[in-house]
Amino acid sequence: MAKVIVVGSGGREHTIAWRLAKSALVDEVVCVPGNAGMANEDKCRSVALSQSYVEKGKNPYVQIAKHEGCEFAVIGPEDPLAEGIADDFWNAGIPCVGPKKEAAQLEASKDLAKEFMAKYNVACPASKTFTSEKEAHAYVDKHGAPVVIKADGLAAGKGVTVAATLEQAHEAVTDIMTSGRVGNAGKKIVIEDYLEGVEISVLAAVSVTPENTAGGKSVIVPFLPARDHKRLCDGAKGPNTGGMGAITPLDDVTPDVMEAFNKSILEPTLKGLEAEKFDYRGFIFFGVMITKDGPKLLEYNVRLGDPETQVVLPMMDFDFFEMCKAIVDGSLKDFSFNWKKGYAVAPVAVSGGYPAAYKKGIKITIDSRAKSIPDSKIFIAGAIEDRRSSSESKDGEHPMITSGGRVLAACAMAPSFDEAWKKAYELMSTIKFDGMFYRKDIGLPGAAESGKLTAR
Ligand code: GLY
Repeated sequence: MAKVIVVGSGGREHTIAWRLAKSALVDEVVCVPGNAGMANEDKCRSVALSQSYVEKGKNPYVQIAKHEGCEFAVIGPEDPLAEGIADDFWNAGIPCVGPKKEAAQLEASKDLAKEFMAKYNVACPASKTFTSEKEAHAYVDKHGAPVVIKADGLAAGKGVTVAATLEQAHEAVTDIMTSGRVGNAGKKIVIEDYLEGVEISVLAAVSVTPENTAGGKSVIVPFLPARDHKRLCDGAKGPNTGGMGAITPLDDVTPDVMEAFNKSILEPTLKGLEAEKFDYRGFIFFGVMITKDGPKLLEYNVRLGDPETQVVLPMMDFDFFEMCKAIVDGSLKDFSFNWKKGYAVAPVAVSGGYPAAYKKGIKITIDSRAKSIPDSKIFIAGAIEDRRSSSESKDGEHPMITSGGRVLAACAMAPSFDEAWKKAYELMSTIKFDGMFYRKDIGLPGAAESGKLTAR
């Protein structure tokens, strides 16, 4: 039996912890810092980062894992990976799902990712990188619009502008490089050709080490393709968000499209990871545009996507912990991936005002009807336990209050898309908090960003 630490506090991490806890091989999941959803989950516990025994200058997650007796780690978000948390866990003798620091730069530096894509012939849009703002503006003038402007570093999802006009492109260059809004992430800028098409997210399990490669065991296994919905409002209108809902699988992603993705993106990426001798045992997220010239890679993320995880992991018909073990021990190539038939749909509920300013600390109520909807699950993202209330509900769950912009996802699965969609929205209707807002069209025609530009 294993005790596992999950690093992170969002909806993705709640889903990971829930899947781990389902494994008969896991007896406890310690979520750091976790959230109210994880704290309420069977076999799961949230532990705050601020523990008296945590010494300054040492990785706090590793210290908590050792103190708690965890023998396995799964990392959710990109920031700790970019800082080398996987290296720290392995150095402490704790196997870790998440790439080591060197490989994690594929997300932490857009410039480095583009170099990697060019070096290993990964199909992607053409781009140029600049450290001089003057040269970046001159290139924008020469290139024309539409064009995509990206901060090089990690910018919490706020570093990319798809500029429909020259004016927007120049504004984005100045904003990234001089406003200080994205900090050091904007010291370098990547200017990329704009592609027309439909975007998909392919999450995948990766097990690449020099030893695996020498033994012919390095592999990347794609999961079911998924789609996020980034815009706040129905009909793909309104400002960009961290994701208003997700669906999987995708009827428009045919086996031919997946084959083209494998040939032009996944396989060259695997070759590149092997050739660079990376230690990449974790998850990768391919942000892909399906264009009329085939799939093109927009970005790598070195983690699972959020909210895509909230639909993809529930569809897994295998033991998630066993897969994680196979990722780290080099046996992933022989692992059997079985998927549930049908569809998963998960709209996301956000705080009123999000993605601009919003209130926190608002009480969330969930009607008891929620528990009676089969094959459904609420994944908590931005909510904490209500410490003002000492009461527990009838089923032993602690009351929750909002603590973030994206508060939760209501996921449901069913054999048909329509059924899954209806159940997900029925589940959403059992949840209430003041200011609650969610899109009503996740997965419906016209809901996804088409990749056709309209000036914002
Ligand atoms: N859903 C997009 C992301 O996780 O970055």
